[in-house]
Order: sequence, then C-alpha cells, then structure tokens
Amino acid sequence: MKDIYILGIESSCDETACAIVKNGKEVISNIVATQIDVHKQFGGVLPEVASRIHVENVSIVIEECLEKANMKIEDVDAIAFTQGPGLIGSLHVGVQAAKTLAWAFDKPLVPVHHIKGHILANELVGDIKYPVMALVVSGGHSELVYMSDANHSEIIGSTQDDAIGEAYDKVGRVLGLPYPGGPQIDRLAKEGEAIYTLPTPKTKGIYDLSFSGLKSGVLQFIDRRKRSGESYDPACLAASFQETALNLIVGKTILALNNYDVNQVVLAGGVAANSRLRQMMSEVMEPRKEELLIPPLWCCTDNGAMIACAGYYAFLYGTRATFDVSAKSYFPMD
Ligand code: KG4
Ligand code: ZN
Repeated sequence: MKDIYILGIESSCDETACAIVKNGKEVISNIVATQIDVHKQFGGVLPEVASRIHVENVSIVIEECLEKANMKIEDVDAIAFTQGPGLIGSLHVGVQAAKTLAWAFDKPLVPVHHIKGHILANELVGDIKYPVMALVVSGGHSELVYMSDANHSEIIGSTQDDAIGEAYDKVGRVLGLPYPGGPQIDRLAKEGEAIYTLPTPKTKGIYDLSFSGLKSGVLQFIDRRKRSGESYDPACLAASFQETALNLIVGKTILALNNYDVNQVVLAGGVAANSRLRQMMSEVMEPRKEELLIPPLWCCTDNGAMIACAGYYAFLYGTRATFDVSAKSYFPMD
C-alpha cells in the first residue's frame, strides 16, 4: 500500500504547531512553538495576545516542519487542522493556514477535533486496540470517552464546571507558582504530604467530574490560615489538592471500566503528563485485564503530530472540509 503523509496544524491555545506523520504512526517532523514565556507574565493565556503570536509564528512553524522532514507540500497527501474546540481567535489562524495550503496546492483538507487528536496521539507510541476508554485531562477538558473505533466516540462523563488543568493552573497561581501551574504542582507535591482535608468534589452523573469546589476549597483554606495567622506548608497543600483531584478521576475511570467492556484505557491531554497520575493509573490497572496506554511526555501537551495522526484516520474514513469551513470554539466530539 502507498504510504500516506499527513501534515497537521494545531493552534487551539498557546502552542503553534505543525507536524508530518507517515501512515498515522511515524513522526517525520514535529515543530512546536510555545507561547508559555509570554503568557507567564500575565499568569495565564491572554486570548488576544495568543492569536497575534499564532499569526506571527504559523508560517515559520510550517516552513521549519517541511524543512526538517526534507519534504515539500506537494509530497503530503492531505492537510489536517484543529477545527476546535479552543480559543476562537487562535483556532482561526490554524484553520486559515490549512485552507490556504490546501487551496494553493490542491490538497484534501481534513478537520480534526482537538480532543480526538489527544486520544489518537497514543497511536504514535503504541497500538490502540478498540474499544477503548480514554481519560482526557487537559487545560480545557476533563472527560471519559468511550471509543468503539477511531471515528466513533461517546462522551460518557465530563466536568460540570472547570477542567482539571484549569484547576491546577488556578491553584498554582494562588500558591504563587509560575504559569502553567500543572507541572509546578506536580513537582512541588513531591516535597509534601497530602495532610490537609479539602472538599471532595460532588458530581451529578456517575461518570461526571467537578473541580471548581476543590479549587475554591484551596482558596478558602489559604484565606482561613491567613486570617488566623496560622502558617501552612505549600508543598503539603499542593499534594492535598493533587491527591483529591486525581483520586476523583482515577476512581471514575475504574467505575467506567467496571461497566464498559474495553480492551484498553488510554490517557490523553496535558495533565496526562502528571507523574502522580501516571503512577496511580499504573497501580490501579496492574491487577486488571484491560491494558493501560500512557503517551510519553512530549505528546501529552498540544502538538501537531497528534492532529496529523487523528487526521490520518479521518482521511481514510473520508472526512473532508470544504473551503467555507470555520473554526469552532465549542465543538462537541460525538
Ligand atoms: O493539552 P494541553 O497542552 O492544552 C489543552 O488542550 O488544554 O494541556 C495543558 C494543561 C495545563 O493546564 C497544564 O497545567 C497541564 O496541562 N499540565 C499538567 C502537567 N503538565 C501540563 N498538569 C499536571 N501535571 C503536569 N505534569
Ligand atoms: Zn490540548
């Protein structure tokens, strides 16, 4: 069979990224321009600033990706891009870049759902054996997704309020840690013990998640200690927050596995880079029949390879966008 090369463009948040992936498996080149250093100054992503930086970076990133791959646009079979969900101004930049390339070089245009990209990125490191249960944990999403194959999915549970990564970032901010708070809390929690009691999240649906009460619980804890003049150990507070948040998602994943017959559990999204989550999931999955697939750190956070990989499966399935396609900040997956 002829090899298929997909060029994938990602710009949904604060990473401008482009990659070329062969047959949905082999990364030929993968370039990510992160804006973290800029947004650090503001303690979070400023959407307007993010869009402007995407405009500045997108052509450079695409050019560098082709150069590294030693390929021309003519050599790729299709252009895949993140259609949504994400920051609308940021998404538009990637959508427009993809449309321009597809039009100028007469290539098929393949829209990709960002979360599907995170999940299918696991194909870059192992074989996904459907049906699978995906635990998607990122800055914008916290979901349990049942996938019967690469093109069919059902969200069985999602957050009722904040995404888990958002909670990590906000708690990081109140602890005075640089943006993004997730990796900082991961590191700091290792120096403490989960000794403080924080509110256990309450959820409506059995697989649903919630993080805003826990986040407020951390804020109130700090406030109370400040008012009473009592000190606290930030590392222990980080560990307490992390254990509460992760116990919730790990517990809900196990609950879902008890009720859905799947071959694998796959982790996906930026928070899947968390060392404690990786450890907890490995421990709870050890005695179970389902396999655990954890992506390596480089493909947990946003990148173009995950979009090219998901784009490959969508391409084979026949998914195409026309030139009137637009970005969707709210974009249901199923
Ligand atoms: O998937 P991603 O790059 O962007 C979105 O699609 O949202 O995820 C970014 C999120 C941020 O909230 C960041 O703090 C979190 O992933 N994150 C982590 C870790 N590394 C990144 N959270 C916890 N522990 C980590 N090691
Ligand atoms: Zn993401």
